[in-house]
Parts: sequence; C-alpha cells; structure tokens
Amino acid sequence: MDRYLVFGHPVRHSKSPFIHTLFARQTQQELEYGLAEPAVDEFADSLRSFFAEGGKGCNVTVPFKEQTFALVDRLSPRAKRAGAVNTIKLTDDGVLLGDNTDGAGLVADLKAHGVILTGCRILLLGAGGAARGALAPLLAELPSELVIANRTHAKAEQLAAEFHDLGGVMAQRYELLEGVFDLIINSTSASLQGELPPLAPALIHADIAIYDMMYGTSDTPFIGWARQQGACQVMDGLGMLVEQAAEAFTVWRGIRPGTQQVLRELKRNLGTL
Ligand code: ATR
Repeated sequence: MDRYLVFGHPVRHSKSPFIHTLFARQTQQELEYGLAEPAVDEFADSLRSFFAEGGKGCNVTVPFKEQTFALVDRLSPRAKRAGAVNTIKLTDDGVLLGDNTDGAGLVADLKAHGVILTGCRILLLGAGGAARGALAPLLAELPSELVIANRTHAKAEQLAAEFHDLGGVMAQRYELLEGVFDLIINSTSASLQGELPPLAPALIHADIAIYDMMYGTSDTPFIGWARQQGACQVMDGLGMLVEQAAEAFTVWRGIRPGTQQVLRELKRNLGTL
C-alpha cells in the first residue's frame, strides 16, 4: 500500500491522518497516512529513510518547513516563493519535489466562505512564514489593495518589496493603518501567547471579513476580539487546514477530494459542530 505521513515536532495532535484517511476513502484511493516525530537534528535522516523505504510523499509541519526547503531535489515555483515546503512528492523519476500548498489552501477556504478576493482591500497581519506563504496566491487573485502590518515593521517592508513584482502590495505600521478594508487576515502567532495584534478597533466594521489562520475548539483571541468590535463574518484556520491537505492530496494522487464533508467530520471530531 502507498505510504504517506506528516513530519512534525510535536505532531501527535495533527489532524492530517484523519483528513487524508477520509480523502482516501472518499476517492477510493488505497493508501495509509501516519505520523513521524523525529528529533530536530534527526529529521533529515528520518526523511531520507522514509523515501528509501518506499514512502510516496509526506507533509512537513513546524519546525521542519524551512529546513525541508534545502533537503528536496527540486522546488515548485510556489514553494520557492514561500521559502518553505509543506508537501513532498516522490516523482516517477525518483525526484523529491518540494511544494507548498498552504497559500492555495487559504485562498480555497476564503472562496469556500464566499469571500471575493478580486478587487478586495486586504490587510494581512504578520510577516513571518505563514504570511510569506500566503502572499503569492492572494496577489494572484488581483485584490485592489494588499497591506502588510507587522510588529517588526522592517519585516513587513522587506516582504512587500520581495513580492512587489506580483502586484500592489505595501507595508504599513499598525498605528498608521487607516481607510477601509474588506478582509483582515491574521497570520501572526500572537494567539499562541494569548495576545492580540495591536490593531485599532476602528478598522473593524460590520461588513468586514475576518480570517484567523489559527484555530481551536473555541474562538481564537483575535476572532473573539473582532466579534466584540462588531465583525459578523469571522473564519478560523480549520478550513485552510483541510484545503491545504486537499491540495497536497491532489499533488500526490492526481485526484481532487471534496473538502466540505471532511471539514464537517473534522469539526464533529473536535466537538465544535
Ligand atoms: P509563522 O511561521 O507561523 O508565520 P513566524 O515566522 O515566527 O511564524 O512569524 C510569527 C509572526 O507573528 C511574526 O510576524 C510576528 O511578528 P514579529 O515579526 O514582530 O516577531 C508575529 N507575532 C507574534 N507574536 C505577536 C504579537 N504578540 N503581536 C503581534 N504580532 C506577533
């Protein structure tokens, strides 16, 4: 049977085996999908062994995404842009192809929620790995504006400069943000410390869409805060998780699984439905 797995540390909490097992059942693909949690300095050996022993593909998550970038034989254009790999496929000619499906997953989930990105005024919070992965797929949708705000402003400026060739993207300091945005995407890891990005409440209005790449069994701090300020459409990153997995499954198997039923099952599994 074809073997896949996710590398991460820690990875025991990963929902990827659950998601890919449902995709496989739905599309009648024979495969098994497991977990691997090597020590950080043993990751490269562990990855090589997996493929030497017949593995067909894998996902890579925190803290291995950047390291994987240098370990694969070839990079897809979107992995190159993202500066990180979350999906590896062993091609028929034995090449380890590094890809990144995170940004495509974000865009697919936004669309599944009915958000129209073309002509959209987008504010992206954060300038780390998650923001970098999202930029090219977002710009490909031709938003009318894409502003990056980050606690360390220089990093937002650097990112805006790096992606400038793909469309109108600029950096702005949190305290100088003004105007009306249609969509705010939180890519920061502030929620992990129970913190909030320093955003002025005045930027939230009833018609705005709020997306937090984080998810949990209840509202993330950012979503809770946005609701308090009057935001009606709020979305967490669970849909992005399922959509990036669907994109990886498509890369491996050449068949695209449906996501919405799997997302419902995942919510049921998490006790949030
Ligand atoms: P990831 O790969 O998840 O993007 P990262 O590369 O470490 O993780 O980036 C984390 C992002 O969250 C950064 O943009 C970080 O801001 P800095 O560049 O100033 O470090 C942002 N971030 C983390 N904690 C934050 C907080 N409490 N408030 C605002 N931004 C925060």
